[in-house]
Amino acid sequence: MNEYLTISEAANLIGKSKETLRRWDREGKLLALREPISNYRKYRRQEVLDLLLDFKDEEPQIGNINFVKPNKDYWVLELFAGAGGLAVGLEQAGLKCIAVNEIDKFACETLRKNRPKWEIIEGDIKNFKFSEYKNKVDVITGGFPCQAFSYAGKKLGFKDARGTLFYEFARVVKEVKPLICIGENVRGLLNHNGGKTLEGMISILDEIGYNVVPVQVLKAINYKVPQKRERLILVGVRKDLNTNFEYPKPYSKIYNLKDALFKGELYDCDVPKSLGVKYPKSKKDVLDLVPPKGYWRDLPIEIQKKFMGGSYYLGGGKTGIARRIGWDEPCLTLTCSPAQKQTERCHPEETRPFTIREYARIQTFPDNWEFSGSIAQQYKQIGNAVPVNLARELGYSIINFLNKNQGLSNVKR
Ligand SMILES: C[S@@+](CC[C@H](N)C(=O)[O-])C[C@H]1O[C@@H](n2cnc3c(N)ncnc32)[C@H](O)[C@@H]1O
Repeated sequence: MNEYLTISEAANLIGKSKETLRRWDREGKLLALREPISNYRKYRRQEVLDLLLDFKDEEPQIGNINFVKPNKDYWVLELFAGAGGLAVGLEQAGLKCIAVNEIDKFACETLRKNRPKWEIIEGDIKNFKFSEYKNKVDVITGGFPCQAFSYAGKKLGFKDARGTLFYEFARVVKEVKPLICIGENVRGLLNHNGGKTLEGMISILDEIGYNVVPVQVLKAINYKVPQKRERLILVGVRKDLNTNFEYPKPYSKIYNLKDALFKGELYDCDVPKSLGVKYPKSKKDVLDLVPPKGYWRDLPIEIQKKFMGGSYYLGGGKTGIARRIGWDEPCLTLTCSPAQKQTERCHPEETRPFTIREYARIQTFPDNWEFSGSIAQQYKQIGNAVPVNLARELGYSIINFLNKNQGLSNVKR
């Protein structure tokens, strides 16, 4: 079966008009690739199918459809916490944070500065025991970095995963026995090592007493985030409970860069001024020629050739190179560094990368969430985060699950 679809094939498959697909491409809801020579839109079959799944049960809405109030205090232990994108989103949903673990000293400073009352367990997760949190924690969350396992036998067992950070995540879950554990990761985990890495994770969670809910990749743009970022969510539910976890429902309203940086529905003022990096003159001179929503193909042909060097002749869209974001589209996924050749995200009007506060807004951090360390460290912390608004919606799903299972709550206080 062909992995790529034309716009007509994609429109047929999804039951929408080509015009709708063009609009969705502009809005970032379903992003098309471009044929290198003809520039025609092409769609990844899997992405079209994923979108169909997103909207299978009901038409998405606007408002606050996932909101649910906690029936009591529920406590989270957050691992691999970074600068706190996931943790602060869960807090906004109404969950309470008992402690966070993180190895990076600047990220820990960020967490301490913003939440002096949280217990920050600073250092390599491998060096800590967490059994003291047994009976004190309902939820364990964590964005463990993805690593391959080396398979000794056919099926991956808990002990075989030793040495990986997923092993550490599972070890903490085993020590603490929360009602539910949530791992977050990049979409790439789906196909990592031909799908075996994810399969191994699911079998380990099963071995330590957790049923895994069918894995979903959530698109941040469906959850009030002005950025085309995706997060894979891995949910384990303790086997003595019902596996009745429901993912947050997607919203139909898509926010764009203008919503991120100006006063409006997402923020009640324009983005505050802040530091940021600049392009070297040679790069700025080139990017000056690219219009909003344009990329290297919008340059005069001679400059294209010079800028792209050998890769000009290699084919492929390379749509992230010399890319300038438009005000009326969600930003492309932010990375750990704001000026990378393959994943450029230039400001729409000024020829420069986004500043620290602009970066933070695109990830939907509140303006008063401060970051520590050098500018490069700050960009890295922001680029690594789960968008706060996506985390908040996920938090509502967790609360909903815990409300339904509250008679069994872990916390003895
Ligand atoms: C993808 S980031 C997590 C982002 C975070 N969930 C957020 O929303 O901001 C992964 C984090 O794991 C941390 N990390 C990596 N190895 C670690 C280890 N051995 N022990 C503790 N933390 C570790 C990294 O420093 C990084 O901040």
